Amino acid sequence: MDSILVTGNGPLNGEIPIAGAKNACLTLMPATLLSEEPLTLTNAPRLSDIRTMTLLLQSLGAEVTAMNAGKVLAMSSHALTSQRAEYDIVRKMRASILVLGPLLARFGYAEVSLPGGCAIGARPVDLHLKAMEALGAEMDLRDGYVHAKAPAGGLKGGVVEFPLVSVGATENALMAATLAKGTTVLKNAAREPEIVDLAHCLRKMGAQISGEGTSTIEVQGVERLGGATHSVVTDRIDLGPYMLAPAICGGEVTCRGGRIDLLQAFCERLDAAGVSVEETDKGLKVARKNGRVKAVDVVTEPFPGFPTDLQAQMMALMCTADGKAVLEEKIFENRFMHAPELIRMGARIDVHGGTATVSGVERLKGAPVMATDLRASVSLILAGLAAEGETIVNRVYHLDRGYENVEEKLSALGARIERVAGQ
Ligand code: EPZ
Repeated sequence: MDSILVTGNGPLNGEIPIAGAKNACLTLMPATLLSEEPLTLTNAPRLSDIRTMTLLLQSLGAEVTAMNAGKVLAMSSHALTSQRAEYDIVRKMRASILVLGPLLARFGYAEVSLPGGCAIGARPVDLHLKAMEALGAEMDLRDGYVHAKAPAGGLKGGVVEFPLVSVGATENALMAATLAKGTTVLKNAAREPEIVDLAHCLRKMGAQISGEGTSTIEVQGVERLGGATHSVVTDRIDLGPYMLAPAICGGEVTCRGGRIDLLQAFCERLDAAGVSVEETDKGLKVARKNGRVKAVDVVTEPFPGFPTDLQAQMMALMCTADGKAVLEEKIFENRFMHAPELIRMGARIDVHGGTATVSGVERLKGAPVMATDLRASVSLILAGLAAEGETIVNRVYHLDRGYENVEEKLSALGARIERVAGQ
């Protein structure tokens, strides 16, 4: 297994591009299943999770061709051969559940392996299943699979009221509702930019949707959807770490394609910590010029709140902040696994349930550490950039699921970072 070697060496400066959003792409790709006509995505990120979704769609008989070194995905579902998402693929990536809504809506039937456990929390899919039921589907759980069946004549519009905000369940329900008969109202829907991006793409395909980006989305079902070409929205979770890099090491970095509206709550926290964030024609210019950052508290929440997917990286920044920061994780029950690794680097962190208290130290010290999940992996790299000496981050396959060319991008800013090939 490869590892990443980071040697802390002071301020970072320069300009780097931000990739298209993994989590938007992972819901835009299954949208191809809704139509016989081609769907082409541009600005796709080149990541192992995207390759896993490609394999899943291909296993259903969809054509998926990666062009322009993987940045363009040309897809067609005109001749699907299967409505069954097999365990062997689903177990590798939970976002596989996002084929459920589209398959059920177009074919009236779907079998999808239930995703198993996950390192960051239990992550059930009950809300996805309830949303399909609200559209008239019968759900049967057996052999580790969900067997979903629409009524004769197809899914029917209905009211889906989510008891808690779920990004994936909102996406599944939104896709399913586009082909359901009549009107569907999604209440307490997720408002993330990835949902807005999905709605924009579905509308290009002919769907009738209003209210995306608010907590009530209304969908008027149509007979069929057509083809479209759509550019994937900028990845706010790829953007976050590159904004934190100059915050943690000093310097000034421009993140091309970055926008404040994608990360308002995060930008406000950076501002409170003493990091300047300026939106320019090119993207976001981020700088830390005046000594250590100040400790700031963070509570993770659904959008537009502070994203859980940036909590680990923010913790890395707080490790060397001046003062005590309290980080509360409200979305996933086990998302502090990076804390013991950061402690190995000299950080002072106390974790009690969903709350981590970080008392900033002047300097971290390099150490061998282990990435426990995707977002933890990049937080350890950030910590390594700020540490004295060498840090080796092991298990970087987590990193490759969600971050494109991290070593190249950080090296371009002046960081000393390299990938070490595993034996
Ligand atoms: C999406 O996961 C993202 N994944 C996650 O990205 C992200 O952390 C998460 O949203 C929260 O923003 C993709 O978009 C592919 P949820 P999702 O349903 O949709 C509970 C990353 O690092 N819940 O919004 O699975 C759930 O357990 C990741 O890229 C139920 O109880 O998250 C959690 O506590 C990891 N029942 C909360 O809701 C359900 O049926 C929010 O989860 C569904 C969710």
